[in-house]
Amino acid sequence: MVGDLLVSNEEMRNQAPRNSILLGVNIDHAATLRQARYRGSARSAGEMVEPDPLFIALLAERAGADGITVHLREDRRHIQERDVWRLRESISTRLNLEMACTPEMVKLAVELKPDSVCLVPEGRDEVTTEGGLDVVGQVGRVRSTAERLMEAGMVVSLFIEPEPEQIDCAREIGGRCVELHTGAYANAYYGSNRGSEFERLRKGCERAALAGLVVNAGHGINYVNISEIRTLPNLHELNIGHSILSRSITVGIEGAVREMRSKLG
Ligand code: PXP
Repeated sequence: MVGDLLVSNEEMRNQAPRNSILLGVNIDHAATLRQARYRGSARSAGEMVEPDPLFIALLAERAGADGITVHLREDRRHIQERDVWRLRESISTRLNLEMACTPEMVKLAVELKPDSVCLVPEGRDEVTTEGGLDVVGQVGRVRSTAERLMEAGMVVSLFIEPEPEQIDCAREIGGRCVELHTGAYANAYYGSNRGSEFERLRKGCERAALAGLVVNAGHGINYVNISEIRTLPNLHELNIGHSILSRSITVGIEGAVREMRSKLG
């Protein structure tokens, strides 16, 4: 099944028209679901291990995803090393690896050579990445990690809060991209501070673009708040995971990706 998709995806990509805002699909939660049943027993279950994140990624590409994002966490709670290698070998769009600033992850990224790396903070107790990377508070560590990855040919993005000092510091470090954290806005969506959180993001997008950075955004984006998120200025790419994977349970991953793409405009 995976083999058939590989051939037809390549053909489709050559014909597909591109939208202005790109869609990166984060498939971590496919692995979360797999691990819920098969943690530690995947080998003995053989062919029956589902869902397969690679299969999900190929279907997402077929439906118009511009890139596939995975977060290889230190505790390997969802995505496993084998997943990232299989993705690297088989997807036809871009592989974006989210990772913490640790020597173990740098070594792996240099070997794996994803197209881009997004540096994120990592807390063991969080269910998903909760806040942006504090670039200002750990500038030395972030700089040396980013430099090592850039030397190895990767595009480096920093996942940060849309705060002026974080954006300026990201610029100083010399990476080409930032991914602005949309989580606070998403959490405020039905509250009184939605407007101020949107304004914070809007200013962040403008400041980052003025600094010459490519502006991506992600976290908590869903089929409702996308209508407003997509109006942010200078957006290059959105990374969306939970809402797409959740919707795929009812409509299938291709339907879920197509619907999000159509909402991007
Ligand atoms: N971008 C980054 C850097 C993330 O860490 C995450 C969450 O893993 C996402 C985007 C996607 O967030 P969500 O799953 O809420 O769409």
